[in-house]
Amino acid sequence: MAELTINGEKHTIDDDATIPLLWYLRDILGMTGTKFGCGVAQCGACTVHLDGVAVRSCVTPAVAADGRAVTTIEGLSEEGDHPVQMAWKEHQVPQCGYCQSGQMMQAAALLSTNSNPSDEDIDNTMQGNICRCGTYPRIRAAIKSAARSSR
Ligand code: FES
Ligand code: FES
Repeated sequence: MAELTINGEKHTIDDDATIPLLWYLRDILGMTGTKFGCGVAQCGACTVHLDGVAVRSCVTPAVAADGRAVTTIEGLSEEGDHPVQMAWKEHQVPQCGYCQSGQMMQAAALLSTNSNPSDEDIDNTMQGNICRCGTYPRIRAAIKSAARSSR
């Protein structure tokens, strides 16, 4: 059994606590904002926060979140007005959009510990989040914008 808090709500997993967190979010709770890409921690599409730290939910057993707080893209802000979300809109970052919830969760985690990231900081943090549409320049610009508006 595992008890976890997801976007502020308590959930109990009774039967299969070995289920990956991504499957629990999408298939059990119907929270489909977090995406399945590779399933092997290589693309970042499934990124969520566990106690504020970015993790790959495809390789994180739900039981690993026992007693901890999970935040998904649906819970990043109540009104969709987190600085990262606002900057993503301002810079019209998404193309197909598939990778973008993972990109935003990774970026939000970066900004929670670094309010003025350099290009190198951004590259180092975001390198595991793959965008097949190549939106990387807009992602970098949006992160800098979000950082400015957060300071
Ligand atoms: S789906 Fe988890 S890293 Fe690709
Ligand atoms: S916007 Fe299409 S994969 Fe990133």
